[in-house]
Amino acid sequence: MSEPVTVTSIRELKAKVGESVSLGGWIDNKRSSGKIAFLQIRLAGGTVQAVASRNDLAVEAWAEVERVTQESTVRLTGVVKEDKRSSIGVEIQLTGFSIFALTEDFPITPKEHGTAFLMEHRHLWLRSSRQRAALRVRSEVEQGIRDFFYERDFTLIDSPILTPAACEGTSTLFETDYFGDKAYLSQSGQLYLEPAAAALGKVYCFGPTFRAEKSKTRRHLMEFWMVEPEVAFLEFDGLCELAQEFVGYLVGRILDRSKEELKILERDTAKLEGIVPPFPKITYTEAIDILQKAGNPIQWGDDFGGDEETLLASQFDRPVLVTRFPAAFKAFYMQPDPADPRCVLGLDLLAPEGYGEIIGGSQRIHDHDLLLERIRQHDLPVEAFQWYLDVRKYGAYPHSGFGMGIERFVAWMSGLSHLRETIPYPRMLYKIYP
Ligand code: 4AD
Ligand code: MG
Repeated sequence: MSEPVTVTSIRELKAKVGESVSLGGWIDNKRSSGKIAFLQIRLAGGTVQAVASRNDLAVEAWAEVERVTQESTVRLTGVVKEDKRSSIGVEIQLTGFSIFALTEDFPITPKEHGTAFLMEHRHLWLRSSRQRAALRVRSEVEQGIRDFFYERDFTLIDSPILTPAACEGTSTLFETDYFGDKAYLSQSGQLYLEPAAAALGKVYCFGPTFRAEKSKTRRHLMEFWMVEPEVAFLEFDGLCELAQEFVGYLVGRILDRSKEELKILERDTAKLEGIVPPFPKITYTEAIDILQKAGNPIQWGDDFGGDEETLLASQFDRPVLVTRFPAAFKAFYMQPDPADPRCVLGLDLLAPEGYGEIIGGSQRIHDHDLLLERIRQHDLPVEAFQWYLDVRKYGAYPHSGFGMGIERFVAWMSGLSHLRETIPYPRMLYKIYP
């Protein structure tokens, strides 16, 4: 029988220098040289080196050390020692060791595997150090988001996943059967936030979002997590400020708290250190001019694709805010631009280094009749939006909000070129296993 577990994470371990501890974990790696073995043990928060020396261990325990393989689970006891060379500052000198479950033929080895193979084994690939680092960056981003809004008096509103109508265009809906009626997986919680903002002033939602986009790019997932703030009496300029403050805060937070992870991911942090607001801000019309001068064939009225976003962002060393887009290719709810009736008060924030649009937002139409007109123009079913129109009937108020897909943000922070490694189980075109 093994000792009861006394530490469950690296953080707890670091606080127990000089003490005897007992824990369970996985063999991340093993090196041995006859009389001494170095085991990398994985537990919550990272790995710790456990040093096994034949002279210190019972014969049976040493035999287990010799027999143990990569990804076996083990129970161990030992004394925590300071170790200046270790990235966590401590190691464990083993006094007891037993195998809980021996692993044979773990499919992922330190040799190179193709991405297709790794994606098929995503459930096991999660254990590798780069994948763990990316998921820890993601977790820190999520915590940062919650703290940012909590500290600024926002109320978290969980928006529904099953919805009766489209929010961001009808071409990317996942349809389901809702007891004989049609229902769709949510493309955005925004429409549900607007009534909540009338109740609570400053609100945000943060949850899974679905887009049936038949595109196979490194920037698109079918299921992604979006954080969306919605603020009463916030107008367009204030929205641009909020988006910058938010991004600046999160970048600072990751630089501050995810250093170890960024090192494992080999992220060039110098590129992130300069990401401090204010960010450059240009209009769509100015963006078209910049693109054309750079040799891009885009015309006024065209939407940006990935290439245009990358080219545009490459002209700046910080994220760039692009504002005031033509109404024609933007969502029905965006407030018209008082300076140019062809345009709306929409905002896209483009990240540097080719990470593309990370934020999309706008001021919302607050006038009942104008909104109704737009719903009709977009061929949307008016009955399905009656409740949304009610917000304009009973105490209309100016308001604005944005959405950020956190996978794109995590990819940027982590320096990952493809979104598939920023989410535990990516959902991609024709790929839903495991
Ligand atoms: O620009 P989008 O479509 O905006 C909205 O959905 C608004 N209702 C948000 C709001 O104002 N409350 O999407 C917002 C962000 C994008 O900037 C991008 O970061 C992310 O969501 N996004 C995706 N991320 C991964 N895969 C996809 N297929 C994505 N589509 C959008
Ligand atoms: Mg967008």
